[in-house]
Amino acid sequence: MMGGRADGVSATTARIMELLKKPHGHYLSGQELSRHLGISRAAVWKHITALRRMGYAIEALPARGYRFSSSTCPYNALEIASGLTTKVIGRPIHFHEEVASTNEIAFTMAKESAPEGTAVVANRQSAGKGRLGRQWESPPDGGIYTSIILRPAISPREAPKLSLLAAVAVAEAVGGFLSHPPTVKWPNDLLIQGKKVAGVLAEMNAEMDRINFIVIGVGVNVNVKSGGEVFSPEVQAIATSLSAVEGVEISRVALLQALFGKVEEWYNRFLRDGFMPVREAWNRYSGMAGRRVTVRQIGAAFDGTVLGIDEDGALLVKEERGIVTRVTDGDVVVGR
Ligand code: BTN
Repeated sequence: MMGGRADGVSATTARIMELLKKPHGHYLSGQELSRHLGISRAAVWKHITALRRMGYAIEALPARGYRFSSSTCPYNALEIASGLTTKVIGRPIHFHEEVASTNEIAFTMAKESAPEGTAVVANRQSAGKGRLGRQWESPPDGGIYTSIILRPAISPREAPKLSLLAAVAVAEAVGGFLSHPPTVKWPNDLLIQGKKVAGVLAEMNAEMDRINFIVIGVGVNVNVKSGGEVFSPEVQAIATSLSAVEGVEISRVALLQALFGKVEEWYNRFLRDGFMPVREAWNRYSGMAGRRVTVRQIGAAFDGTVLGIDEDGALLVKEERGIVTRVTDGDVVVGR
């Protein structure tokens, strides 16, 4: 981390990028940049090289200088941090081209005292983790894979509330990019037209009566192509992506900025006003009330009708016999 910026990029590198973005197609000479920034031309070159490594297409012509081709906007920490309006979430951002799992990296960082709000973002995951020991297919270039460290002063019993809070934040952020609102399936799957577009994996480190930290991992299928060439056939059958539904590509940078903003907004609301507003928003987004479901838990399965989530975030399911069961773990399959 250099200079304490949210994106971890050196302040001079970021300033050069800002200057290159301004003249829209014109060249800026190495001499102009070096005079403006008070650094040598060799140093300017080093920063240009760093920017190119981050994915920016910067042309260099010996007689004219440097030019940024603005049709290319890469997915990196610098882009995500510029225009980020949050105070805590995504500050800082640790961006990786590829990791096994952003949750694992964030978990290790949290153990090593990374501050609340720290976010790990990757362009691809080689071993992305889903709920209940499942795998989260994380192909490059089309998805958002991020993990955010939270350190709420609440008891471990309350942790599930944060994973439902994350589902509401994801629904609102994603909903802002869609023509139709998405729905939430308990506990925190995001569906469009009945197919999954995003999921949340919350992992916790706690003592008996105190949470040390929670890692909120979010995966969103943003611009993953439909047609089965990216996802495995099993995932293709149950998942879709935002671009496949909307028919246009969606900026991962803009969506991630919106997501960090919504997580911050809902987290602050939860700390201030408790779980009630989250519960209301979750019930509104879920549309599960009155639906027939099959609840699947380790060694058990039963059918019933959903009543909603209660004040602790448990799913209330009424069985045929009239008994209402509080579901706090496992998965539900929604009937027709
Ligand atoms: C699920 O629906 O099963 C949860 C999926 C969560 C996937 C995200 S991608 C970023 C973060 N890192 C992981 O390994 N998993 C979560």
